[in-house]
Amino acid sequence: MSERLQDKVAIITGGASGVGEGGTRAFAEAGAIVVIADLNQERGEALAGELREVDGRAIAVRTDVTESDSVATLVAEVVDRFGRVDALFHCAADARFINSSDRRITELPEETWTRMIDLLLTGTFRVLKAVGRQMIAQGHGSIILCGTADAIIGIDGFDSYVAAKGGVLSLTRSAAVGLAKDGIRVNMVCPSFVDTEAQQEWMDGEQGRAAIERMHLLGLPEPIDIGRFAAFLASSEARFVTGGIFPVDSGYLAFKAKQDVVEAMGEYRPTSDAEGD
Ligand SMILES: NC(=O)c1ccc[n+]([C@@H]2O[C@H](COP(=O)([O-])OP(=O)(O)OC[C@H]3O[C@@H](n4cnc5c(N)ncnc54)[C@H](O)[C@@H]3O)[C@@H](O)[C@H]2O)c1
Repeated sequence: MSERLQDKVAIITGGASGVGEGGTRAFAEAGAIVVIADLNQERGEALAGELREVDGRAIAVRTDVTESDSVATLVAEVVDRFGRVDALFHCAADARFINSSDRRITELPEETWTRMIDLLLTGTFRVLKAVGRQMIAQGHGSIILCGTADAIIGIDGFDSYVAAKGGVLSLTRSAAVGLAKDGIRVNMVCPSFVDTEAQQEWMDGEQGRAAIERMHLLGLPEPIDIGRFAAFLASSEARFVTGGIFPVDSGYLAFKAKQDVVEAMGEYRPTSDAEGD
């Protein structure tokens, strides 16, 4: 076990499944005391129990990031129990809702927009505010916000998701500036597709999966891959890193742009017959 985060207290929102679960496992692997702050307390408890069985230190605190009181109670409980919050990896989201409900802007129901912004952007505000206050009081901390590569480029049909995450991206930079004097670093990780349970359902079988895999140079990242990068950002090895927006995307941003151009140019390119092959 690496000791990169030995005895550090880390809150992982959405830490019971998906990318957040990868964060929970990676922070625990690095020696942190992990607090799984998830709406799904049953899964949170099960994961915390599993980690404790292999010498990890983890607890689950049911948290709803759409409720300020719930977030405030989480931070109070963690401070009461462990005395501080050294790191936050904020991953709370609802991939099934995003995949099934988001639309391009002209077909987007206002209630979808409102829920997306409340969960992903205002949720980030609530968590940053409560955790930030505690980190200011203790004089240090590292915050990692989970974004998406799609906040950097556009993606067809996901307008409210991209808008919410674009807000998180801007907030990463302004919070990094505002909190640096208090010893707090703020960074954002931007995965492309991560091989989570919810994404496996959405990729819809082998053909869908193959299409998504083609957009990645090194295969699909697992949740733990994103979690380990976040754990690095939380550690003292990254002590000069703040305000950073980091794609952890298997080359998706570089390659997808190229692929889109290739697709657009497809009809103009000579076929192998025309070339006489
Ligand atoms: N999975 C991917 O391919 C992918 C790609 C890019 C970015 N991301 C980002 O990763 C993060 C996590 O996404 P995911 O795909 O793992 O989602 P997910 O739906 O698989 O998991 C999200 C977790 O958050 C919890 N949660 C939901 N609502 C909550 C609330 N109100 N309060 C607290 N917890 C809540 C859920 O119970 C669940 O455990 C998001 O920020 C998402 O934008 C994911």
